[in-house]
Formats: sequence, C-alpha cells, structure tokens
Amino acid sequence: MNQLGMEQTLVLIKPDALKNSLTGYVLSQLSEFHTGLRFAATKIVTVSPLLAGEHYAEHVNKAFYPSLLEYITGRVHYPDSPSNRRVIAIVYHGKEAVLKVRAIAGPTNPHTARDTKPGSIRALGTVVPIADESGQIVGDRMDNLIHASATPEEAEREVKLWFRPQDIPARMRLYPVEVNETPYFIEGDTLSTTYRAGLSSVIAPGDIAWSSDLDILREVTAGTAAPEAARLVAAKYLINRNDEEQA
Ligand code: CDP
Ligand code: MG
Repeated sequence: MNQLGMEQTLVLIKPDALKNSLTGYVLSQLSEFHTGLRFAATKIVTVSPLLAGEHYAEHVNKAFYPSLLEYITGRVHYPDSPSNRRVIAIVYHGKEAVLKVRAIAGPTNPHTARDTKPGSIRALGTVVPIADESGQIVGDRMDNLIHASATPEEAEREVKLWFRPQDIPARMRLYPVEVNETPYFIEGDTLSTTYRAGLSSVIAPGDIAWSSDLDILREVTAGTAAPEAARLVAAKYLINRNDEEQA
C-alpha cells in the first residue's frame, strides 16, 4: 500500500474458467462498478512449469502440488491442445484491492464456497480427487476458477512475478523500478552479460525493470546468489516467448 492507500492484487483466470467460458462472468464480478477497482495490467499467458512452480512455491511439499502445476499450466483442461493452455493474468488497482477481490473470489474450496459464500466465484468450481501412481487417493485438487492474492505482501511478489513494469502504466506503478544498465541473457540456469547464439535476452540496457529483479541479477552475476535465482527472474521476461519455455 502507498501513501494514497492504493493497493494492487493479482488475479489469474485459471484454465478451468477459460474452458467453461466464465471469463466474462469473472470480469463482470470484478468490474469497477462492483469493486471500485481499476485494471492496471492484463496479459494472456501460457504458464511455463517454471512460472507455475514459482507462483505456487509455498505449496511445494503438499500432496496436491504436482496436480496443481498440471492444472495451472493448462495440461488438465487441455491435454491435447497446447495452444489452448493459458490463463488471463490481471492486476487490479485501488483501495483494499486484496481484500475486495478475495471476498468476491470466495473460499479456496468450492464446496465450502457453495456452503458459506454462495454467489462467490469459487462456488462455481469443482473438487477433484488426486490419485498417486498406484491409484491411491492422496488428496483433492480444487479447480476453483480464479487465483487472487491473499495479502498485500503476496500481491507485490505476484504482480512482480507475472508483470514487467512496462506492462503497467507508469502512473499506476506501486513498486520501485530502475533503468537497467547491464545486458542480461539467459540459457537454462545460466545468466550471462555477453551475448552469444542461443541465449535469450532477459533485460536490455535502457529497459525499466523492478528494482528487486535487478538486485537478484546483480547478486547472481557477483556470485552472491544461487544461479537458479536468475531463472526465476527470467521466467517473467520470457513469458510467451517460445514453445520450449512453455507448457
Ligand atoms: O488460492 P488460495 O490462496 O485460496 O489457496 P491456497 O491454499 O494458497 O492454494 C493455492 C491453490 O492450490 C488453490 O487455489 C487451489 O487451486 C489449489 N489447492 C488444491 O488443489 N488442493 C488443496 N487441498 C488446496 C489448494
Ligand atoms: Mg494462496
């Protein structure tokens, strides 16, 4: 939150919502008329395993985690149609954005949502049993149509993970940015500051980047952060770039 009490929050319209043509419904529930919130950014994203893993990093040890990654990368709902595998990522901007959107989204579990918050978006979702390789049921996956950041801190991490500063109009940016001065390229986990064939540009000199991303890239270059850290920064800058990076 800044001085004016403005917040941002990340919404993902998940693959099950796209498959069920609920996009218009979700957008209408979250419209400025209902929430007082404004769009700050939108993007269609084919979610790479890397981006999915980073977005849901807090759940890495949960039984549902592998199935959750299959879900958010679109493999569950579009097993035979990779070009349909996408989410719509949106930044909403305004006072109490996080709380307002969480309330309209409803509880994580669609069954709970139907019982306790009928009318919330997630009340239209489903719960799917997850089986391990031997067929044993190990938990539930909640196909709950949308993601919504749970706290302002989580929102900052997630907005920066999915969006570059230039995806957001300058006057609406809430988090610190810098003009980058170093050419950064990546191949696999390896960050480089000199170009050679096969490398992907992450951030060019003169580009505006989140200060927190540049801090990580500087630390990786200096050897004071693990090389994988650069890959996570790069996940955002490589969004939609080529099939190999994607699901
Ligand atoms: O999304 P939210 O913050 O409400 O819930 P979470 O506990 O952070 O879990 C993230 C996502 O994992 C949920 O939205 C569900 O899609 C999924 N999940 C699941 O599949 N099975 C569970 N038992 C719990 C969560
Ligand atoms: Mg959460």
